Parts: sequence; C-alpha cells; structure tokens
Amino acid sequence: MRTHDLQPLPHRLVVHGRGRTHKIVYEPGSYTGVCSGGPMGDRVKTIAVANQKGGVGKTVTVQNLAVALSLLDKRVLVVDVDPQANMSMNSGIDLHSQKLSMFDVLVNNRGIAEIIRLSDQGYDIAPSKPILVRAEGEMKGRLGWVRRLRAALEPIANNYDYCLIDTPPTIVFLAVNALVASNAGIIIPFFPAPNAVAGMQLVLARMEELRPENQTLRAIACVPNRIERWRVEWKVLEQVKREYPTLPITAPIPKHADFVKAELYRLSIFDLAPRGPVAKSFSALARLVVDEEEPIAEIVGKRHHLERVASWT
Ligand SMILES: Nc1ncnc2c1ncn2[C@@H]1O[C@H](COP(=O)(O)OP(=O)(O)OP(=O)(O)O)[C@@H](O)[C@H]1O
Ligand SMILES: [Mg+2]
Repeated sequence: MRTHDLQPLPHRLVVHGRGRTHKIVYEPGSYTGVCSGGPMGDRVKTIAVANQKGGVGKTVTVQNLAVALSLLDKRVLVVDVDPQANMSMNSGIDLHSQKLSMFDVLVNNRGIAEIIRLSDQGYDIAPSKPILVRAEGEMKGRLGWVRRLRAALEPIANNYDYCLIDTPPTIVFLAVNALVASNAGIIIPFFPAPNAVAGMQLVLARMEELRPENQTLRAIACVPNRIERWRVEWKVLEQVKREYPTLPITAPIPKHADFVKAELYRLSIFDLAPRGPVAKSFSALARLVVDEEEPIAEIVGKRHHLERVASWT
C-alpha cells in the first residue's frame, strides 16, 4: 500500500490570489483522552473519512468507495458515526424501523454484530441514528472513551477486508473515536477553497495529537472533490500541493449532477453511470486503497454482490 507519513505541520496555509492573500492559522488544542482497550484484529483494514468541514464529500466518498471496494470482491463494512445519519439514509436504511444504532454500540455496550444490516448497495452497514448526538455527553468522563469504537470493532475484525467510517464534520468524540480506530489510514476529501483546506489542516493536526493513541495514523488520500473548471480552484489546489508536498493528494473528483441523482434515488454512482468519469475516480481511489494493479476497466460496471451478509449476523 502506498503510504505517506505526515510531516510536522506548520498549522498555517497561505493562499496567494490575485492581489489577495488568505492566511489560515490553526492553533492546536489540548488533547486529554484516556487510553484503554485492546488491540484490533489484524484482518480488517479500517479507514476513517474525515474533514472538519461540512459538505466536502465525506459521505459520498465512503459510499462510493465502499461500492468500488465491493466490486473488487472485498468484504466491506461501513460504520456510520455521524448523527446526521446521511450514510445510513443513502444506504437505504429506514431510520424509523431501525431500532438499534451505533449509539447502542458506543453507549449501551450492544455488540456491533447486532446492528449490522446489508445495504441496498451491497456492502454491510452499522447504521447511525440522530440520537448518536447524545453519545458524547453520555460517554464524557468514562475511562477509555477514546478507544470505545476501536474496542467495539474488535469482535468483527476478521469478518471484513475493509471497514470505512463516515464521520461528522467536527473532530470531537465521534470523529476522534474513528481516527483512533483507523489502522489503515485516513482519507480526507476537501474542496480547493480556503475553509475546506483549513478543515483538512484541522484533521491533520488532530491526527498528530492522537498519534500517542494510534501510531499508525496517516493520511492515505486527500481527495479534491467537486472540482469545476474555475481557475481559482486549480490555483488553490496547486498552492495546497506546494505547501504540503508530502500529502497524498489524489486526482480530483469532478462536480457532477449524478451525485444529486444518487442521493435522490438512494443509489451509488456505480448504479447511475458505471463507466462515467465519477465512477472511474472512485475505482481509482479503491485501487489506491488496495494497491492492486488490475486495469480499472475490469471493475467498472460489474454487478453488485447483494447476497453478502456474513453468516454471523
Ligand atoms: N463531486 C460532487 N459533485 C456534485 N455534488 C457533490 C459532489 N460531492 C458531493 N456532492 C453533494 O454535496 C452534498 C454534500 O456531500 P456529502 O454529504 O458527501 O458531504 P459531507 O462532507 O459528508 O457533509 P457533512 O459534513 O454534512 O457530513 C451532497 O448532497 C452530495 O451529493
Ligand atoms: Mg456526511
């Protein structure tokens, strides 16, 4: 797997525009999590998708990467720890009929296998519900809160090849748990716009703070998303690449109407346009994740594996 260890962060990004300069400064906060909990199983590769900025494409990245990995015959579990539950909704989960959620796993010690469902799109999902917003308050002060999710994933560590975690746009209890649980790196989608880049910086800084809890923390892909043809966006992207030469910035994902259609019909990009440019972007991201050499054409357009629900559920 291609990995890129993070360099010490300057916590500062200066974006030069025509006659204007944006300065983005981040002062790292203090991190006071308490450590407990055992090691993860070796089998599953857990990857959180995070950015401390809303709407940059975290959920669509998790969803379409999950499908792309499934098309590569990988067993994929998606864990939704965002109280917005967008990933769960996009996966066809009916939040009203779904009784248990990640809230019960994190707060009430229910086994994660109890809540896992097969999504409409072929991967398994541990759904969220809006009540998850209360998890931080419930868990505050409990010993080992920072490793709660990591411990919860242990029993199913040998049942999947990949576990993708969708996170909320603030890196506090839920997203911190996701970062600590990630043994195979972090994916950071971002827009090439100063505020989204600042959100990416905040994730990178948080990762440095959390390194004592998780030595394996590293960014495996920073994905510029929703790119249009505007020159200013490409300028910002070039600037980010210059400022962070060691970051694994991938090829950009274009802005595309299929994302709206996909959300409307609860489909993935692969259902709508399996050979289109966006599907190709996610296939390439999946390939980067598994670091396989098969030509992309082989996976684009394959049927889903809807029969996949592990027998232990
Ligand atoms: N490349 C794209 N082109 C067009 N629309 C996109 C693209 N990427 C994402 N979107 C749309 O933008 C919206 C936000 O995307 P998404 O929900 O994935 O962001 P997010 O980072 O998960 O947001 P949040 O922080 O609220 O969880 C969604 O409606 C999604 O369909
Ligand atoms: Mg989201």
